[in-house]
Amino acid sequence: MMKRRTTSFQIRSSHNHKWKRRLFFVILLCLCIVSFVLLEINRPTINLLMPFPNFFAQKPKIAFLFIARNRLPLDFVWDSFFRGDKDIRFSVFVHSRPGFLFNKATTKSLYFLNRQVNDSVQVDWGEASMIQAERILLKSALVDPANERFIFLSDSCVPLYNLSYTYDYIMSTSTSFVDSFSDSKDGRYNPKMQPVIPVTNWRKGSQWVILNRKHAEIIVKDETVFPVFQQHCKRKSLPEFWRHQPFPVDTSKEHNCIPDEHYVQTLLALEGLEGEITRRSLTHTAWDLPASKDHERRGWHPVTYKFSDATSELILSIKDIDNIYYETENRREWCSSKGKPSPCFLFARKFTRPAALRLLNLSLLGS
Ligand SMILES: *[C@@H]1O[C@H](CO)[C@@H](O)[C@H](O)[C@H]1NC(C)=O
Ligand SMILES: *[C@@H]1O[C@H](CO)[C@@H](O)[C@H](O)[C@H]1NC(C)=O
Ligand SMILES: *[C@@H]1O[C@H](CO)[C@@H](O)[C@H](O)[C@H]1NC(C)=O
Repeated sequence: MMKRRTTSFQIRSSHNHKWKRRLFFVILLCLCIVSFVLLEINRPTINLLMPFPNFFAQKPKIAFLFIARNRLPLDFVWDSFFRGDKDIRFSVFVHSRPGFLFNKATTKSLYFLNRQVNDSVQVDWGEASMIQAERILLKSALVDPANERFIFLSDSCVPLYNLSYTYDYIMSTSTSFVDSFSDSKDGRYNPKMQPVIPVTNWRKGSQWVILNRKHAEIIVKDETVFPVFQQHCKRKSLPEFWRHQPFPVDTSKEHNCIPDEHYVQTLLALEGLEGEITRRSLTHTAWDLPASKDHERRGWHPVTYKFSDATSELILSIKDIDNIYYETENRREWCSSKGKPSPCFLFARKFTRPAALRLLNLSLLGS
């Protein structure tokens, strides 16, 4: 009798234990999933999910990287742009001078709060410190594995289209958008850059590029080309008004190398990656034609649009551009996206705050 009862008790008890153990494992699994999901929501920058890229597959993000002197005078334009579409994934990073803080007193837009890189450097326009700022922004943005495109923007840039159009346009190709052309003839190449940078790989283009993740990583990891730029790519002494006209009139053949107009282009050429770029910038800049048409003496500077320039005609004329002519290469680039003819530009510069206020009021930006 005793023996049997004991056995029956033992069986029931072991069955009970098994059941409890199963319940314990089910709860543990649930907790794991919940904490993974919470991590994912709260801290998208964390790398924990890297081993499970498909398990938590998410739409890639575009990183908007702003290079500002101090505050962003056009923050209200970008606020309206970012607010426009809740479904689009993006992130924002700002590089401003050390000591300047984006807080509720210096920006009214929540998109720029706590988005400043901590390790910013003093940027002198036209100096290698500008490239350093770009590298710092890329390094910060690369921490988030969801960031797949990296757009450089200045504090005078505006978006021409809405966020979803912008996103689809940029994501429709895996290439970077980098305007890049040979520049061997115009005196900015310094032979002292050899042998690291042979003249055949010397390129020029706009600073306002859009990079894919692979190219962004190459730029952050570069330890050979950047020091050569620091040492040998220098703009010559500038006239006093240079602050208002960062691209000074080039009146001689003296070396006048503006690092940010060459660095990304030249580095990608050196790495043999020009086949992976769309060779145009998506940021429109208008250039003042000087009186002299002599090519050697040409010295253009970017136009700044003021309140009185800010009309629908201006914006429509920029949106209408569907091809770009590259004089030095006698090459005409017809712009396309997803295999169809398309506008060439998604962004434009340079706009003053009153001009941008007027354009936004007329619903001409980000639409
Ligand atoms: C900057 O530093 C603060 C405090 O040390 C930190 O909370 C914040 O996340 C950092 N920001 C970035 C963009 O790294
Ligand atoms: C975004 O802009 C595109 C092109 O201008 C337009 O066709 C589309 O309707 C806009 N989308 C939204 C959500 O406003
Ligand atoms: C544009 O400005 C006018 C006059 O300042 C103002 O009354 C109007 O509400 C503004 N419109 C928009 C869309 O902001």
